[in-house]
Amino acid sequence: MTSEWIDTCAHGDVPEDGTLLVRVKGEQVCLYNLDGEVFATHDRCTHASASLADGFITDGKIECPIHSGLFDIRTGRALTAPCTVDLKVYPVRVDGGRVLVQA
Ligand code: FES
Repeated sequence: MTSEWIDTCAHGDVPEDGTLLVRVKGEQVCLYNLDGEVFATHDRCTHASASLADGFITDGKIECPIHSGLFDIRTGRALTAPCTVDLKVYPVRVDGGRVLVQA
């Protein structure tokens, strides 16, 4: 399957230091705004599928709202127990004020 850039939302829709849940090709994807730069990961925690869009951002990391596992938002890396499997991350670019996610 070829990847393409999917228009997900306006840049201003992703709150500063917050999250926004979007759908990309049927997948739930979480967008993050870190100091104006947008990143995207799969929304579901790799431990027990909590929605990371309901999590808490600290220092470039997303804390899962259920068991408090941490992931690096930029790389998707699982950082703390009980999370051991990395999150899928998606390339992001902003074009004309729109956030495009490659999937
Ligand atoms: S569901 Fe995320 S840490 Fe358990």
